[in-house]
Amino acid sequence: NYHDDFKEPVKIAVIGGSGLYNLEGLEFVAEVSPETPWGKPSDAIIIAKNQAGLHVAFLARHGRGHYLTPTEVPSRANIAALKSLGVEAIIAFSAVGSLREELKPRDFILPSQVIDRTKGIRPSTFFEDGLVAHAMFADPFSAVLEEVIWAQRAVVEDADFHRQKTLICMEGPQFSTRAESNMYRSFGADLINMSVLPEAKLAREAEIAYQMICMSTDYDCWKEHEVAVTVEAVVANLKANTGNAQRLLSAILPGVQEVVESGKATEGLDGSMRFACMTAP
Ligand code: ADE
Repeated sequence: NYHDDFKEPVKIAVIGGSGLYNLEGLEFVAEVSPETPWGKPSDAIIIAKNQAGLHVAFLARHGRGHYLTPTEVPSRANIAALKSLGVEAIIAFSAVGSLREELKPRDFILPSQVIDRTKGIRPSTFFEDGLVAHAMFADPFSAVLEEVIWAQRAVVEDADFHRQKTLICMEGPQFSTRAESNMYRSFGADLINMSVLPEAKLAREAEIAYQMICMSTDYDCWKEHEVAVTVEAVVANLKANTGNAQRLLSAILPGVQEVVESGKATEGLDGSMRFACMTAP
């Protein structure tokens, strides 16, 4: 337990990506700044509650002033801090580029698979220094959380909602070249970001159910004769999508609570790492 200031367990967390730096429509309860064995999280963690009294922890992945590059995000501290609060389910938001015509800017997408194109320079396990474990990661996201989110897709306005897509995670911070973008398409990737890893891997090691909600902001740079992705375009589409993101979040919280309280969210995860350890006791 790395936080002395808030004692009640908070079982649901939201990790905000670019453009999502706070939770609207929820009442502020507390702010905690835990120090973990892996250092400090990206920012203070805000604990808020909805009208039903449900507590939610919010963490801005890049910090509330967006001062951490995707490579610099202290994912181990972030996940360890959320775990220490009692978190069992994480809903993570991320802006993504689209590698497919049908995934249009401002659409929402629930990825089901991940391809790792980070450069191995991000610390991405809690198990090292004499303790070896190999977590299962064949299905990197929570099917239970995916179902809860998908059921609320109608609250998203003026955009389509997709599921079962493959997300490729690149190192950045520069965007891809056109050749790389086309290579990722040939890999079978549908979406690209810089943030799902190692976050999703660490959530798995922490036995926390994890689902990412992607918001498409651009077509990256694979389209011939079209302008390549710019930060300006990403930010403009993110801003236009904030209302949808906040509405979606409010809509899914009761369902997330239900699967967390019933134990369905962490079914198969709870205690799984005990069997993933290779090191002699
Ligand atoms: N995030 C948003 N758009 C992106 C892109 N085109 N490439 C990588 N990360 C992104």
